[in-house]
Amino acid sequence: MSQTPSGNDYDVIIIGAGAAGLMCAATAGYRGRRVLVLDHANKPGKKILMSGGGRCNFTNLNSTPANFLSDNPSYCISALKRYTAQDFLELVERHGIEHEEKAAGQLFCKDSAKDILNMLLTECDWAGAEVRMKTSVEAVHEADSGYRLESTAGQLWCESLVIASGGLSIPTMGASGFGYDVARQFGLRLLPTRAGLVPFTLQPQLKEKLEPISGVSCPVDVHCNQAHFLEPMLVTHRGLSGPSMLQISSYWSPGDALSVNVLPGQNAREDLYALRKQKPQSTIAQYLMQHLPKRFAQAFNDLNGWSGPLQGYKNADLDTAADILSRWQIKPSGTEGYRTAEVTLGGVDTRQLSSKTMAALEKPNLYFIGEVVDVTGHLGGHNFQWAWASGVAAGNDA
Ligand code: FDA
Repeated sequence: MSQTPSGNDYDVIIIGAGAAGLMCAATAGYRGRRVLVLDHANKPGKKILMSGGGRCNFTNLNSTPANFLSDNPSYCISALKRYTAQDFLELVERHGIEHEEKAAGQLFCKDSAKDILNMLLTECDWAGAEVRMKTSVEAVHEADSGYRLESTAGQLWCESLVIASGGLSIPTMGASGFGYDVARQFGLRLLPTRAGLVPFTLQPQLKEKLEPISGVSCPVDVHCNQAHFLEPMLVTHRGLSGPSMLQISSYWSPGDALSVNVLPGQNAREDLYALRKQKPQSTIAQYLMQHLPKRFAQAFNDLNGWSGPLQGYKNADLDTAADILSRWQIKPSGTEGYRTAEVTLGGVDTRQLSSKTMAALEKPNLYFIGEVVDVTGHLGGHNFQWAWASGVAAGNDA
């Protein structure tokens, strides 16, 4: 432990009482380290509480490094291998928390996300880690044998400092750029940040046409920049959301077009040719209604100005219609941004961190874990799995 005149000294100070910070605190505490977690918010784990619609999709049994975006994709492999979804599930079961698998591999609390937060706080308590809320850190200085923090609770000293302050998404939940500022202060490189897992906003013309059917959802296969997701799309009064759109948003950059197959699993061209032959009086709208929610089918038909019986369509017209159905091109005007984004892409460049301990290579007592780091998961429990795994990796070393 660092020697200070105040007695306000800890082996480990963790900034951020979120998913990664609390996991790290319990892990370090069980190693006999004197741990303090500081957070400026009034309550810990706010994002845990709001996650998964209040039931926290706390991990994904099928999580692999392929479920993560990073400028340095192999970085996350080590931590994820050493603390797996199964490890977290064992912890959840030890605490008697009832859970259920929704989509393949996605584990949710049966009752409430509160169960996960209470479990983490209980673990911190058992491990002797102190969690102090409503405390802001005003400055971080390097000290003789660690770090000195100026905080609203006075000066604090620690040997190891762990930054677990998360990303920029949902500022009303306490998100801040604090972690990036600390990284910059100690000379670490940052990769540009942007909102991920976020709904799209649309150009006024398309928005106006889709607004009347907000609330309608259907499975689509959306492509952008070599990634694609076959999941439901939801039309909202602001634009497009639902799992497929949230997932692809992490791969989208301003100006990119999305290519959406609204009839995944169907060969629209073959279907339309066959239908024209068998029922020449039928319409494209009728065909769409066989496969899509009625309101979406009608709106999509009207958007493309399709009318009249199929017998009036030449081959080239049917080819064009089939092409639109399987590759509907949408150029979003933007995203809803950090206000509603589930995650922040980019952040602390992992090339400067140890993949074993999460410590800065040039500053071995300074750790970065969770969302502040340039590792971002797909939707479906992967982001929490990264928070747990990176928290444990740092907690075993700090
Ligand atoms: P997290 O954001 O959890 O914690 C950071 C903590 O640092 C906060 O308590 C904050 O107050 C504190 N802090 C910030 N700045 C500070 C400062 N300057 N000083 C002191 N403290 C500071 N993931 C998933 O896997 N399954 C899911 O179901 C969901 N659902 C979901 C829903 C919604 C609405 C959102 C916004 C996000 C999700 N996520 C998710 C993503 C998940 O919540 C996220 O990846 C993790 O919470 C990241 O954990 P961290 O501990 O890194 O940050």
